[in-house]
Amino acid sequence: MSELSPSFTVEQLQEQIASLQQQLIEAQRASALGELVGTTTHEFNNILMTVMNYAKLGLRHQDQAARDRAFTKILQASERAAEITRSVLGMARNRKPNFEPTQLAELIREAMFLLEKEMQKYRIAVELEIHEVPKIPVIANQIQQVLLNLLINARQAMPNGGRLVVRLIQDTATQTVDLIVRDFGVGIPAESLKRIFDSYYTTKRGPDATGKGGTGLGLAACRNIVQVHQGKIRVESTVGKGTCFTIKLPMQRVETSETPIAVAVMDRQPPTSIPVENGF
Ligand SMILES: Nc1ncnc2c1ncn2[C@@H]1O[C@H](COP(=O)(O)OP(=O)(O)OP(=O)(O)O)[C@@H](O)[C@H]1O
Ligand SMILES: [Mg+2]
Repeated sequence: MSELSPSFTVEQLQEQIASLQQQLIEAQRASALGELVGTTTHEFNNILMTVMNYAKLGLRHQDQAARDRAFTKILQASERAAEITRSVLGMARNRKPNFEPTQLAELIREAMFLLEKEMQKYRIAVELEIHEVPKIPVIANQIQQVLLNLLINARQAMPNGGRLVVRLIQDTATQTVDLIVRDFGVGIPAESLKRIFDSYYTTKRGPDATGKGGTGLGLAACRNIVQVHQGKIRVESTVGKGTCFTIKLPMQRVETSETPIAVAVMDRQPPTSIPVENGF
């Protein structure tokens, strides 16, 4: 370390690392949000087409039954459009960057809603196993960011469709609430497994047809966010069988007087301490 400028103290360097980690989270969030807006705008447009077609149908047909049917379809489509706008705004809104007691099941449902059409398009059967868990202190939009990153990775690992299991469960032994995203996709070879949390590590050739993927920042942001939350992220994978990410979030935060950014530094562990396991 002696070649580093002596004018920087260890604390200052730690602060800089923390600030950069925070910037990475923010940048990845902005890009993920942009990708999501692309997908949902497309869906929104499809809904508008439905509304327009049924409106024309209703105008053409004079009989009450046909008009009622058209109005019902228009109402259903508009309700879905309203729900999409609500969810995107929910994501985009800067929910307080504070730790607040949060029901993770709601974050899961919101994320699944946003990705529902995309999962259908890629023929992915989503199985939600949501157990009753207590509210835990999290920065809600950061945890949602983690969830979206993991779900999109899982979807991209199954280009020809497959199964995706999302589980929320309490682990009383570790005093954590666990969020598990399990896919039955291509899996990750052992040599890549060590690098997947590194910034810019990607095996994708740029964005896919939905405009997602390829920067290699998704899991790096997940890792930072989980560290800020004093949690752990673990991955198990077998080539050809699939991958399982487990996020363990503590039910109670160890309170410090530091801001969450500084907490990230204090909790920073060497990468090897993130349990990375291969095989099921
Ligand atoms: N569920 C998964 N199945 C198989 N490989 C995965 C999975 N999740 C991540 N990977 C591998 O880890 C790499 C890094 O993932 P990461 O999410 O950080 O970046 P990315 O998906 O390539 O790009 P983006 O920044 O858009 O998320 C991926 O390129 C892929 O090789
Ligand atoms: Mg990704």
